[in-house]
Amino acid sequence: MIIDLRSDTVTRPGKDMLDFMTSSPVGDMVLGEDPMVNELEKKAAEMFGMEGSVFCPSGTMTNQIAVKVHTNPGDDVICSKPAHIYQYEGGGIAFHSAASVTLIESSFGLFTAGDVLSSIQPDDPHKPATSLVSAENTVNMGGGKTWDISELRKISDVCRDKGLAFHLDGARLFNALVKNNENPLHYGEIFDTISICLSKGLGAPVGSMLIGNSEHIKRATRLRKVMGGTMRQAGYIAAAGVYALENNIARLDDDHRNASLVAEALNDVSWVEKLFPAETNIIIFRTKDNVPSARIVSELHKLGILVLDLGNNHIRMVTHMDISREMTLRVAEAVRNIKI
Ligand SMILES: Cc1ncc(COP(=O)(O)O)c(C=O)c1O
Repeated sequence: MIIDLRSDTVTRPGKDMLDFMTSSPVGDMVLGEDPMVNELEKKAAEMFGMEGSVFCPSGTMTNQIAVKVHTNPGDDVICSKPAHIYQYEGGGIAFHSAASVTLIESSFGLFTAGDVLSSIQPDDPHKPATSLVSAENTVNMGGGKTWDISELRKISDVCRDKGLAFHLDGARLFNALVKNNENPLHYGEIFDTISICLSKGLGAPVGSMLIGNSEHIKRATRLRKVMGGTMRQAGYIAAAGVYALENNIARLDDDHRNASLVAEALNDVSWVEKLFPAETNIIIFRTKDNVPSARIVSELHKLGILVLDLGNNHIRMVTHMDISREMTLRVAEAVRNIKI
């Protein structure tokens, strides 16, 4: 049996989700006639108390559309150094939006309202004009770290005061909501736009939503077309999203408990130098200098356990709906049995 912990994107739809998908009514989404896409777009917006949303093929597309919605060429975007929108979207901020970036160096990708204030570019023709702040919750490369919502509110106040937009890369926002028992409506109040992914912990095969007010969504719909993201009978995959939002949120708690169990094992072994917080479903750790991460990856691989080598002796493991408690116990045992 393979235990695939490389990402929570490796899940395959189960029978119930597949049945729901194949029995979905469909129409031409470009003509606004796909009932399931329309239902999903309405449902996502309502969850966050926002006016609308657009269904897109990927989180990269929803994030990059958001950056373009909120910036003009030559503007500046504030985000954290490990932010997905900057590190892992192919330079999309430069490519699509011709914007520059001010990175905040902070622990695990979290920052404060004070950090934002000191990162805003001065009103000076030599400088790019700051127009957007972007946060990520949970922070993927921060080991699944979640934000304190009161700090997000403070950042939102700074953004409103300074006339900046505030975007959330919420690829794994539901992990944070479940972990901290938070209400999505509060996130709708704090942010101008929110991107959520249906294809990560929620288990849908494809799909992300960009959620915001009507004006932003009107512009996002146009940009989705320009970027080639409008689909035709997309209801089959939108149905997976509806199913995921209705059935797969509360169970994220199981993934968090499984991740804690693996983290406990990593905490006990001598070859781990540093373990990231592992608050939700992502576990990142650094091995000691004399223990190449490739060796750990290979030892686990021999036992059918797949993990991701992030480079610089960092390894990532992610729990998800296809990882059972029994598999988790096997991983914890395998970790404890690696003798260096
Ligand atoms: C935090 C974060 N944002 C955005 C994305 C992009 O999502 P996609 O792979 O659907 O483009 C990912 C993907 O892993 C992610 O982890």
